[in-house]
Amino acid sequence: MSRLVVVSNRVAVPDDGPARAGGLAVALREALQENGGIWFGWSGKTAVRPAEEPAVTEAPPVTYATLDLSRCDHQEYYNGFANRTLWPLFHYRLDLADFNRQDYTGYLRVNTHFAEKLQPLLRATDDIWVHDYHLIPFASELRRLGVANRIGFFLHTPFPAMEVFLALPSHERLARSLCAYDVVGFQTMNDLRAFQDYIVHEQGGEFLGDNMLRAFGRTLRAEVYPIGIEVEAMQRTAAHAMQEPAVRRLIKHMGERRLMIGVDRLDYSKGIPERFRSFERFLEKFPSHQGSVSLMQIAPVSRGEVPEYKAIRSELEHLAGHINGVYGELDWMPIRYLNKGFPRETLTGFYRACRVGVVTPLRDGMNLVAKEYVASQNPHEPGVLVLSRFAGAARELDAAVLVNPFDHENVADALNRALAMSLEERTERWEAMMQKVHDSSLDKWRERFLSVLRAVPEGGYGAA
Ligand code: F6P
Repeated sequence: MSRLVVVSNRVAVPDDGPARAGGLAVALREALQENGGIWFGWSGKTAVRPAEEPAVTEAPPVTYATLDLSRCDHQEYYNGFANRTLWPLFHYRLDLADFNRQDYTGYLRVNTHFAEKLQPLLRATDDIWVHDYHLIPFASELRRLGVANRIGFFLHTPFPAMEVFLALPSHERLARSLCAYDVVGFQTMNDLRAFQDYIVHEQGGEFLGDNMLRAFGRTLRAEVYPIGIEVEAMQRTAAHAMQEPAVRRLIKHMGERRLMIGVDRLDYSKGIPERFRSFERFLEKFPSHQGSVSLMQIAPVSRGEVPEYKAIRSELEHLAGHINGVYGELDWMPIRYLNKGFPRETLTGFYRACRVGVVTPLRDGMNLVAKEYVASQNPHEPGVLVLSRFAGAARELDAAVLVNPFDHENVADALNRALAMSLEERTERWEAMMQKVHDSSLDKWRERFLSVLRAVPEGGYGAA
């Protein structure tokens, strides 16, 4: 079996400690451990004069190789083009997208530099798996350096509708770069269709059937691989998590009152202000819940240097303060808003202790919190998932209470319905969702993608 080389913006180097290794990191590490390989990417650090060569951590059979970024590269590549251009654009926020040519140049420069630093570490038989929007041009840069290996790409975010993608001045260059991969994976059918649509209608590419596309002189496979979670591990953790001190404290403090929970990075795509407004509407429309139901919103700060993220933070502080000021009582606060993360073990306990999981992004590639909430439930008394129809997860978890996060009335009604739902209906919906969560577990996602990548003929599909 050939070696695997994983390339991603962030690398879960074991030295960085377990706190950073989420489910995805664990799954990728396992894949690397099976056949040996390299995990390559950004160190997460900036330096005034970054070292020319990657820092290497050996953890046989896996090599972790990471590069620091200069302040300028970090600004233009990460804060700039990745998170102020591609991120908003891919999440349908054209109003927030900043089309700055200098950031684009920085994005290309970092991709070129990273490809040049990985190339000497590669063997001819390695299979390369690149992740996410930060690294779209990575394969074309490797190809330019003569790398003919199999290269796959998985996009963790949505891929936008053609009309939205066309607003990107560099759309053609990025699409051409995507076609330098042999396999391109998307979260949902929606994303795949948007990509096919663009390739066929804008670039005159050809759809060859069986998920094969020909464009820019290359043939590639573009398919749907919905990402999942480590289901059994999550269930086991959740069963024990009720004993966690933080979870016990929360349950004790809540007493007879009921809790709803939202857990998101502090990101405008997650629809947190809209959620707060919907919750306010819920309190107003169903006053019997005042004093007895709270929304706990966990939102660790993310990408804090990017202006749009600073703005959403102050908007939320204002909103939470307003709602608590208007509705709060001496012994009850409607919104518990926490700008910090919690260890996985504690989170699963929180999920289990909360009657309603509120996952209402305005747009999301998948949203694993939705799947984690489901997997953490007590099978004998499951809670209810209220899920945005614009999260990739809604494609699979159609037994959730699906909502339109832009419609506060709709979400307020859904929250009320979730609280009133009978145990029988809750159980029925939960069982249906658990089945789907199992069907697309993290292991299955990884195995499916890698088996397709490994089946690419030597020299690519063009050579078949
Ligand atoms: O979902 C997109 C994503 O980039 C993930 O890959 C990552 O875990 C998350 O957002 C956090 O973002 P960042 O790496 O910018 O902190």
